[in-house]
Amino acid sequence: MKTEVVVARDGLWNLDRLGILDNVRKESKHLLITDKNIEKLYLRPALESIERSGRLVRTIVVPAEESSKSFEVYTGLVKTALDYGIDKYSVVFSLGGGLVNNLAGFLASTLYRGIGLIHLPTSLLAQVDASIDFKQALNYSHGKNLVGSYYPASKVLVDPVALRTLNLRLIRCGLAEAIKHAFCQDSQFLDFIMAHHNHLSDLDFLTEIVLRTVQLKIETMNPDLHADREETLKQYGHVIGHAVEHLSGGRIYHGEAIAIGMCVSAEVGRILGVTDEETVDAHYRVLGSLGLPTTVPFEFSLGDIWEKVRYDKHFVHNCAYMGLLRTIAVPGSGSEGRCGYWVGQEVLFEAIERNRDRA
Ligand SMILES: NC(=O)c1ccc[n+]([C@@H]2O[C@H](COP(=O)([O-])OP(=O)(O)OC[C@H]3O[C@@H](n4cnc5c(N)ncnc54)[C@H](O)[C@@H]3O)[C@@H](O)[C@H]2O)c1
Repeated sequence: MKTEVVVARDGLWNLDRLGILDNVRKESKHLLITDKNIEKLYLRPALESIERSGRLVRTIVVPAEESSKSFEVYTGLVKTALDYGIDKYSVVFSLGGGLVNNLAGFLASTLYRGIGLIHLPTSLLAQVDASIDFKQALNYSHGKNLVGSYYPASKVLVDPVALRTLNLRLIRCGLAEAIKHAFCQDSQFLDFIMAHHNHLSDLDFLTEIVLRTVQLKIETMNPDLHADREETLKQYGHVIGHAVEHLSGGRIYHGEAIAIGMCVSAEVGRILGVTDEETVDAHYRVLGSLGLPTTVPFEFSLGDIWEKVRYDKHFVHNCAYMGLLRTIAVPGSGSEGRCGYWVGQEVLFEAIERNRDRA
């Protein structure tokens, strides 16, 4: 399994010239899925540059909200795709943020048991994380991403120019995932981010963030989809992050929730004697200075959080499975030769309380 990632400024205007379409058959019909916001911003250049190459593409626009990652929307897409006449060699292009990437990716993985998939990510979070990852998913009432597949895109075109229209809150959300990789893999990258924390709208800074994070992310993309080390790195902060994101009903964005989740992971690490004090403090300092939230809101009870954690995909035998850090860029190694740690309710609740003490 391998995804080719191309990072190119103005790439969305030049899809016919970057080798992105090389294996996309002219004889088949193709789909492009986007959301209502991106339709206004980037659909035209992307579509025109695909059509310039002589390929036929049908566009489907979904609401720009997390609830579009649902069975209802998915089955509607399946019907449209089959009515339109796609075949085994058709390709699904996903133009948008992580929501569109995940939805279109799941669709591509299931139509005819798997057709082509090309991501054209437009949010920072999608450019550095969701589009590179093999995980495609829908949400369910019980929690986030509960129904999905492992299905890599054949190609990903990342155009940093699209970030010019992304608001600062969503830039910060993407940075949270970049910081996750820096915390787990690269202390110099963390220094770089901190040194530029006042340049969040600077395209050169953002391009560098994209290039370096994509590289770090690719290092975690093991062809063995269940590789323990890589999965615990990628999921750093996600146990509590997903719970908080889901409980908030979308008010707390994914990157913000992961920022909170990483701080709780650091507290878990301190309680278990894995993470040193300075590293725990660095979580709050780094994420806080970039304007990201760091503490679990008091409105969510410990019981409600636990209910959501129970549906985390790594939750087994009444314990969450969490990656922890010894120090920056040095992951801990759990018991039984595994990289993660089994964390029970008592430790998790104590970690959340310690985290809330910082509010
Ligand atoms: N599969 C994975 O590995 C993975 C990893 C991280 C996140 N995700 C998923 O991704 C989703 C979050 O991604 P997201 O933060 O991109 O959310 P999103 O796709 O909902 O996008 C957020 C908002 O930004 C808008 N937007 C996107 N690009 C824009 C641009 N260039 N200019 C202006 N507006 C733009 C969208 O229209 C939307 O309103 C969640 O569903 C999360 O679960 C998946």
